[in-house]
Amino acid sequence: MQLSNTPVDAVTIAGHPIFVKRDDLLHPAFSGNKARKFAYFLEQPYQQINRLVGYGSPQANSLYSMAVLAQMRGWQLDFYVDHIAKQILEHPAGNYAAAIAHGANVIDLSQLPDRQDLSTREYIEQKLLGENDILFIPEGGRCEYAEYGLFQLAREIVHWKQQQPFSNLNVFLPSGTGTTALFLNRSFAQLDNSIRVLTCAVVGGDDYLKLQFEELSNDCNDHPHIVSAPKRYHFGKLYREFYQHWHELNQSGIEFELLYDPLGWMMCKQYLQQHGDEPMLYLHQGGLLGNETMLPRYKRKFGEI
Ligand SMILES: Cc1ncc(COP(=O)(O)O)c(C=O)c1O
Repeated sequence: MQLSNTPVDAVTIAGHPIFVKRDDLLHPAFSGNKARKFAYFLEQPYQQINRLVGYGSPQANSLYSMAVLAQMRGWQLDFYVDHIAKQILEHPAGNYAAAIAHGANVIDLSQLPDRQDLSTREYIEQKLLGENDILFIPEGGRCEYAEYGLFQLAREIVHWKQQQPFSNLNVFLPSGTGTTALFLNRSFAQLDNSIRVLTCAVVGGDDYLKLQFEELSNDCNDHPHIVSAPKRYHFGKLYREFYQHWHELNQSGIEFELLYDPLGWMMCKQYLQQHGDEPMLYLHQGGLLGNETMLPRYKRKFGEI
């Protein structure tokens, strides 16, 4: 199971020379940067833990990754969801089906008599935490433990850069919660401050991403530089320019994913156009399983390109 040490490829995309850190080649059970975010939980010797607790959407890739993590560690996974759509229960597919096949216990809060008006996170915090055989991972692995695996990723990039002829390097990656970008940036500040992280907000706008950064660290030196989009795009919505940029990316011979990478590449390209071709390494964060459902949606809406 490959969970670290991915290669870097040199490609040209729309005339720009770019390096791509191939974290898409990590094991698919820990795709979408989960191998990095969950490395701590995979490696630490936990003596007392019997149960892993998480929450999120029943189709989240973190559900599948946590199910595999729990199985590897011999724990029970209790994953709390706000509700499960009838369609998913009747025709389990994707991350949900894979998680169930790995023994996950997906708990539908809307069916619990003691829910009151609590959100999934509040329910877990009020009813479960405090029991000492429980390990709780917040939604999508957004917690300080993610720093452990992201430090290892930063080390790999530093090691690769030491063999390159240039003195500075920008690392670009699209952000959701900003966890990956922030901990990478902080690691580079310690390891090699000629490397800096650039990112863009894919979920919510720039202000939302700044808030996420502040929740993770109140030291603004840790906060990566945000490249602002010229207009607001809504997460998960289909845009023709996303579809076109995704095709442009794929001409590199590497398949990218359709949720984060199109805006990521648009903003990376915008930065390169404004700053000349500074050495740029784009972090491919995996997540290709999601293309199985996203691509047919794009094809239905915009046809073939
Ligand atoms: C493919 C992909 N790219 C980017 C992200 C965003 O990562 P983060 O929430 O750490 O900003 C995710 C979410 O984990 C993802 O699955």
